[in-house]
Amino acid sequence: MTAEKHSGFSSSFGVIMAAAGSAVGLGNIWRFPYICGKYGGGAFLLVYVFFVFSIGMVLMMSEFIIGRRSRHSPLKAYPALSDGHRRWMTVGMAGVLTCFLILSVYLIISGWTLSYFVDSITGKLSSLDDGSFASYFDTFAASPSRPTLALLVFLLLTMLVVIGGVKKGIEQVSKILMPILVLEILILCVRSLTLNGASAGLHYLFHPDFSLLGWEGVLAALGQALFSLSVGMGAMVVYGSYIPHDENLLKTSLWITACDFLIAVLAGIAIFPAVFACGHDPACGPGLVYQVLPAVFNSMGGLGSVFSAMFFLLLTLAALTSAISLLETLTATAVDYGYTRTRSTIIITIVEAILAVTACLTFNGGIWSSAQLGGRTLYNWLDLLTGAYLPPICALLTAIFFGWVMKKEDIRDELSNHGTLRIRYFNVFYYFLVRFVAPTALLFVLISGIIG
Ligand code: PHE
Repeated sequence: MTAEKHSGFSSSFGVIMAAAGSAVGLGNIWRFPYICGKYGGGAFLLVYVFFVFSIGMVLMMSEFIIGRRSRHSPLKAYPALSDGHRRWMTVGMAGVLTCFLILSVYLIISGWTLSYFVDSITGKLSSLDDGSFASYFDTFAASPSRPTLALLVFLLLTMLVVIGGVKKGIEQVSKILMPILVLEILILCVRSLTLNGASAGLHYLFHPDFSLLGWEGVLAALGQALFSLSVGMGAMVVYGSYIPHDENLLKTSLWITACDFLIAVLAGIAIFPAVFACGHDPACGPGLVYQVLPAVFNSMGGLGSVFSAMFFLLLTLAALTSAISLLETLTATAVDYGYTRTRSTIIITIVEAILAVTACLTFNGGIWSSAQLGGRTLYNWLDLLTGAYLPPICALLTAIFFGWVMKKEDIRDELSNHGTLRIRYFNVFYYFLVRFVAPTALLFVLISGIIG
């Protein structure tokens, strides 16, 4: 281990901001609102809240414990906590590979977001008329230059923060960006809620319509909970390895989980009332943010472009702190094997850039979109793997390792800060949630995903 790793985060606030920065991302602001709408609003929310505060939070705490106990990145952490059994390295490998692939898709979407932010400031978006946003997005996303340039700029920013290190880069940047993000989302909520006809949006978001939920909605809620909390993929193992020994891991996980959940709900409140008030279609899926919201902002009149710029900045910042944690997971792995931070980050960034640019050019209508394998482009494959399969596989492996391989006494010792904290209900939590509920639920998601 390097000296830098031992120094880690410097304060409780820093820990929470950095880990919440990882959790709060495109998953909360871009993905949560549209799937919540799709699966019955309040009905989805009920199931989601259950998964987030049970399995999701427990997995986050497990990863923190694995990271802090071993003080290693995922590849070395799992063998270290299983008496050196190298086969458990596969759990870490699966996580690191998943982070690598997620980051490529993440960069593409973040690039779009950054471009839309620029288009909001320059007035380009506000000069379009209502009916043309869908075709504007299609032409933009298929063009070979702007989306790739934007993703490279975004990746460069991410790289610079990671090169800055744990304390001066990640912690410092998260401590500044996260409060800005919260302030922005609150302002957008107030604007959205004060529009005429906003209540229909709240009804859409919170009214439980169980007929729309179904089995598929329940599975989507679990998948979304894992992705949104950044759990199961080793990212929280890495951040866990930077958490000071006197930090209460249960409390920290609870704070981060609550923060992530709240921001997702606030994103829904910022988006749906405005969409309804302006008479647009709320159920248009992933295109909601890029094809519908710009039209919503346009219909707000004069200040619309200010709110538009604010929204896309909010999304860019949220994506940035998550991309930082994805890149940090890869960098920390290389650092753990003795490479320097700067050199590892630069090399990983270059490889990641090649994958992301290639995938970007295969997006719908892009210049390489005809290059397909099994009827899917590279972008479609990455999207499918990182959106549906890899996160639950990695989470399942993590849950099995934590519940069945790692020593119970090590877990108790780490969670209680070597006996200095009193932990109540340890056995209930350990035997019930960790050993049985989490692995069973995850196995279910996977099997039904494969069958479906
Ligand atoms: N939690 C992030 C989001 O909601 C995505 C992410 C997944 C980040 C895994 C890091 C690791 O967008």
